[in-house]
Amino acid sequence: MNPAELSFRRFRRLRRTEGLRRLVRETRLSADVLIYPLFITHGTAVRREVPSMPGVSQLSIDQLPAEIEELSILGIGAVLVFGIPEYKDELASGAYDERGVVQEAVRAIKRVDPSMVVVTDVCNCEYTSHGHCGVLVEDQIANDPTLELLARTAVSHAAAGADVVAPSDMMDGRVVAIRRALDEAGFTETPILSYAAKFASAFYGPFRDAAESAPAFGDRRSHQMDPANRREALREIEADLEEGADAIIVKPALAYLDVVAWARQRFDVPIAAYNVSGEYAMVKAAARNGWIDERRVVLEVLTGILRAGANMVITYHAKDVARWLREGAGAEATAVLAAER
Ligand code: PBG
Repeated sequence: MNPAELSFRRFRRLRRTEGLRRLVRETRLSADVLIYPLFITHGTAVRREVPSMPGVSQLSIDQLPAEIEELSILGIGAVLVFGIPEYKDELASGAYDERGVVQEAVRAIKRVDPSMVVVTDVCNCEYTSHGHCGVLVEDQIANDPTLELLARTAVSHAAAGADVVAPSDMMDGRVVAIRRALDEAGFTETPILSYAAKFASAFYGPFRDAAESAPAFGDRRSHQMDPANRREALREIEADLEEGADAIIVKPALAYLDVVAWARQRFDVPIAAYNVSGEYAMVKAAARNGWIDERRVVLEVLTGILRAGANMVITYHAKDVARWLREGAGAEATAVLAAER
């Protein structure tokens, strides 16, 4: 049969060479969109690798200059700071302590690199003795009394020099409480990146080791969302935007890419997706066993998150990705030049 008589499309024409593929590529991953999480702990000279997250370490503040320098050399311009405090109590007082671990870390980062965008995680779970995200009243997390603590924490982060505050607690009304408190304290220009659609996920397991924040009893299902609910996620996002969020986070990323895509269609605000600890750990474990090609899998995962509609990705893979993107660009250019000769 003569193929010219058949009617079909030849998609392969535009896939023939790397040059063509590059021209028609719809989604581009770049270090510009990456946010790298940092776990800052008390003490000195601490660089303690998290067993379930190879390549990720808890760092003491004195380790920050080297870390921040490495990130900026790699072209990563934003970090998300978590703290592991020296003491924990019922009221999470380490969270809003002016001399707390996050507050000191923010100052240290800004001293070495004022242009590094410092986002701080605002939550109580790392600071409470019971590991819950708020004030307990008869073993229940009391919503409204918790708002006050979150607002104080956010203001203390802004006062230390944080560029963005990111509440991850999932209490109702925290965005408006934080916005009001920031404005009253004179931080009218500090944006809120709200974890608007945060699901009660088993993918946070390794993070709770890293941040030492596992709840002593019970779980987080009374405030984090049911993984089954997409419409509710859109209502959460809408409410946070009405309360004054400047940008939002969907978390985790991979099992929730439909939420990212729907949020992208419905809301014209910047959307971050959090490629969480369990997602990272699975890739690392498989790669260590030689079961997958780590580099290709990670680039595919992050490209997929962007393709779904995220503008920013919070990821533990950030440093590796930035390195690979540089090497890749170099290798590609050399290959194209060689082919043309
Ligand atoms: C709460 C917080 C969590 C994560 C980010 N902020 C844990 C939780 O809700 O239990 C999880 C991040 C990850 O798994 O990578 N402070």
